[in-house]
Amino acid sequence: MFGWLLSLDATDLVPGSMGRAVFEAAERGEIGRESCAPLLAAYVVAGIDTTINAMSNAVLLLATHPEQWAALRADPALLPGTLNEVLRYDSPVQVFSRVVRTEQRIGDAVIAAGERVVLLYGSGNRDEAHYPDADRFDIRRNPVDHLSFGYGVHACAGQGLARIEATAVLGALLRHARHLEVGTPIRHLNNVIRGLDRLPVTATPA
Ligand code: HEM
Repeated sequence: MFGWLLSLDATDLVPGSMGRAVFEAAERGEIGRESCAPLLAAYVVAGIDTTINAMSNAVLLLATHPEQWAALRADPALLPGTLNEVLRYDSPVQVFSRVVRTEQRIGDAVIAAGERVVLLYGSGNRDEAHYPDADRFDIRRNPVDHLSFGYGVHACAGQGLARIEATAVLGALLRHARHLEVGTPIRHLNNVIRGLDRLPVTATPA
């Protein structure tokens, strides 16, 4: 799918762009030339569906909770916390995995070194022991410690960009739409990604 990336070199890319910077770093010998395509592919693959799904999940949740849409319009300072709650409530990446390096014990279970474990972000984000009334969508909760961007040294490298994009899109919608009405959402069927294939939306202008 991303085979065309393999034939790129620096001059194919816009000066000042992130892609150009990656190839220039290779020309300076800071990274291997063979790392350029995988690095760009990692960002393209990781950064598109995730962000699209986060924003469409946000529109669906806010349209179906009109009192919270009204509260957000009255106080746009709630937007960063709203994004956290959207990500907690409907994690665009539901599961991820890790390979265990040393034997681990969790309760009675023993996980041997070298085994692959699946981390259920979507489940952790709805853990009642951590988030009271976890199945309730609440834009005032501001769950800054949600797991939807992963955790640790490999946590999402694009989370800042994702927040900038979602703030721009939802901020514009807040300013321009007084009311949102949605038709029947068609869910995207996938074991990892939680999002929508289709969401008919009617916006009443502010
Ligand atoms: C709401 C949108 C997004 C969500 C929910 C999301 C979620 C995730 C998750 C769960 C991981 C795995 C973290 C882990 O292994 O612990 C990840 C990794 C990553 N994400 Fe995102 N992501 C989003 C947007 C983006 C964007 C916009 C970019 C870049 C343009 C991006 C680039 C990456 C990269 C490069 C990694 C790999 C980091 C590493 O392995 O060190 N992501 N993301």
